[in-house]
Amino acid sequence: MLVDRRTVLAGAAALALAPRMAQAAAEPSLARIAQAKGMCFGSTMGLRNFLDPAYRQLNASQCGLIVPETEMKWVALRPDARTFDFAAADRIVDWATSNGMGVRGHTLLWHSERWMPDWVAKHDYGPDPRKEAERLLTEHVATVARRYADRIDSFDVVNEGIDPDTGLLRETALSRHLGAEATIDIAFRAAREAAPRAELVYNDFMTWRADDGRHRAAVLRLLEGMKTRGVPIDGLGVQSHLGSKYSDAPTGLGQVDERAWRAFLDEVVGMGLNLLVTELDVHDNPLPTAIEVRDRAVADHARAYLDLMLSYPACKTVMCWGLSDRYTWLAGSRPRPDGTPKRPCPYDADFRPKPLRAAIAGAFGARPMHG
Ligand code: XIL
Repeated sequence: MLVDRRTVLAGAAALALAPRMAQAAAEPSLARIAQAKGMCFGSTMGLRNFLDPAYRQLNASQCGLIVPETEMKWVALRPDARTFDFAAADRIVDWATSNGMGVRGHTLLWHSERWMPDWVAKHDYGPDPRKEAERLLTEHVATVARRYADRIDSFDVVNEGIDPDTGLLRETALSRHLGAEATIDIAFRAAREAAPRAELVYNDFMTWRADDGRHRAAVLRLLEGMKTRGVPIDGLGVQSHLGSKYSDAPTGLGQVDERAWRAFLDEVVGMGLNLLVTELDVHDNPLPTAIEVRDRAVADHARAYLDLMLSYPACKTVMCWGLSDRYTWLAGSRPRPDGTPKRPCPYDADFRPKPLRAAIAGAFGARPMHG
């Protein structure tokens, strides 16, 4: 059904595109190219960039899936312990579905104190804090998952549960009462109950970089534990913010360890889990100023990465964390040493396709047909 609606609406969207995008629109969309290989392509939209009609159009023309950037996180949905504010999330979900796109939910729990609203730490957990923490968490997950259960096929249930430096599970106000493992388990069980047909994903930013072994090992331990405990999990979201760890490598995009990465992915799919590329972009901080050189390096890096990821039949979803450099979240932190704008996305700040766009299309096109 999704596909049929898309086909009709893609035509309408293409007609409405501004002239400078017309040529790009004549080419098959990334969603279409992905779909031909049994895959889904999409990107994130946050309310700030969602309000730009030309950007909405670019997304509608290229994506089969949309994921709200912030609007479904606790910080956006929960002004306090009693209230839910779905206005912004609903706007994005309604727009995406009425334009024939699917939606991913992100995230039912960002298991990181830094990204939870302050009130969660200040909340009065009363005489039985464990019970109150469980009530709060379950109520949140169930309310959000149930609200969108008929429109969202896949949820990032828990985001970034591990401290990559120590390899230990993070602690939050909730987990201090419940235990970190139990917090994660409760979130997944509540999600399954509220949205029984949705794909439930653990999402994290471990990478293929040589210096990321501790994080990979910790993610495997977490997933194995969940499987052993019978926790309902269907997939691993590999965020895929590519580039060097703190974007300060003197040159290049950081050293990768393909063997270690494949060994990691083999273990994950060996557990029967799907693999999702959930937040693809390439941080270009360490790359030279010259745009052609920079864009080429970004595209080549992503192409090699996607070829590897797409060699896994279990990898059927690829999402970018923003389509255009105009709205990349990376612009807000760690400026490039030369002060020029970053170029981590498949389209430039004027919504013109870049080599990264061709690299993504090329990787989809080259994907082997997996059964
Ligand atoms: C980022 C958003 O892009 C920002 O706008 C927001 O302020 C912070 O979060 N990993 C994730 C995403 O899982 O939720 C993050 O999104 C980017 C890193």
